[in-house]
Amino acid sequence: MFTNTSNRTPQMNEILDRRQLSDGIIELTVYEPRVAAKCQAGQFFMLRACPRGERVPFTFSDWSREEGWIRFIFMVVGKTTSVLAELRVGEYIQDLAGPLGRPSLASHDTRRPRVGSDFEGLPPGGNVVVVGGGVGTAVAYPVARALCEEGYQVQAIIGARTADLLILEDELRALPLAAELCIMTDDGSAGEKGLVTAPLKRLCETKQVSHAVIIGPAIMMKFASATALDAGVPATVSLNPLMIDGTGMCGACRVSIDGQTKFACVDGPDFSAAGIDWAELMSRQRSYVDEERMSHGSWLNEKQHEHDDCDCFEGDSIWRKTPAPAVANPKSESSLSGGGA
Ligand SMILES: Cc1cc2nc3c(=O)[nH]c(=O)nc-3n(C[C@H](O)[C@H](O)[C@H](O)COP(=O)(O)OP(=O)(O)OC[C@H]3O[C@@H](n4cnc5c(N)ncnc54)[C@H](O)[C@@H]3O)c2cc1C
Ligand code: FES
Repeated sequence: MFTNTSNRTPQMNEILDRRQLSDGIIELTVYEPRVAAKCQAGQFFMLRACPRGERVPFTFSDWSREEGWIRFIFMVVGKTTSVLAELRVGEYIQDLAGPLGRPSLASHDTRRPRVGSDFEGLPPGGNVVVVGGGVGTAVAYPVARALCEEGYQVQAIIGARTADLLILEDELRALPLAAELCIMTDDGSAGEKGLVTAPLKRLCETKQVSHAVIIGPAIMMKFASATALDAGVPATVSLNPLMIDGTGMCGACRVSIDGQTKFACVDGPDFSAAGIDWAELMSRQRSYVDEERMSHGSWLNEKQHEHDDCDCFEGDSIWRKTPAPAVANPKSESSLSGGGA
């Protein structure tokens, strides 16, 4: 929920709220009523952070049709996410296009017959486990919520390297889950020590669930979906290949499934896990690492120069030494009331 405490009508693409969820993970709430009116769980949008920026995809983690905002959560990994991390309440995202891709529960939308996942095989009331890994939890949360709303019995497992990197725990706990939220961390700093595959295996082998939805880094989706499939439980994953246009025209996001080519932006991003060529996906994701590193490096140098005198930019870090304006609560930089840089 976002509360507009100002009398002013926000402008298109204006940042209404910014929350630092953990080290390097940020949530932005953006005013975009046309997109908010249509988006559904599992869909994504493409944005440009600044005029000469590249277009990159992010998934809707939440939205309000009434208040006209959309929300997304991102991890700072390169240039665009660093530029986004610098934006403050009252500033603007250059442009944003969506909703794109098929909703996770597309089988319920008769205008868009499902091709990606076999999820439609599971009738409402069925038992589903939703697994979120790292920032993938931001994508898993709206899917878990939509499944609860559709009457599925939903269990949820989330995992991260350490407790600091866990996100949306409270939001998931607020859902009417069929069992207590299961938390896994690599180092045991929260929940159980270990990987999400351990509780997933237990649930699948004891047939407590009849479908698994698994969302996270490709390597995690590969192993977690193999765990479910080995136990005879079908799995849906949300694929995240490189995307350029997000509309099926450039071919950048092509993935191989059972030897057939699919475009994740229009046929997915959700797909049945069986038959996915994970090696190809991961190799294609790494196609431009050198260029990405150079581009991020030169952006960091530029920023460092701009701040030579004031020393408020910490080079490799996304943190500013100077406090951001309009802090409404310890985790949230809000709101329309004044704020803005
Ligand atoms: C459908 C979809 C939904 C996504 N949703 C989220 C989300 O909700 N939150 C989140 O943190 N991340 C999400 N991502 C990944 C996000 O798009 C990348 O983290 C982002 O593009 C990185 O850009 P950068 O310039 O900061 O990093 P770069 O240094 O350019 O790249 C770092 C890595 O990010 C990935 N990446 C870079 N450019 C793209 C691109 N155009 N398309 C896809 N991946 C790219 C590559 O694996 C690359 O190696 C999603 C990706 C897809 C395909
Ligand atoms: S991103 Fe261009 S075809 Fe999918």
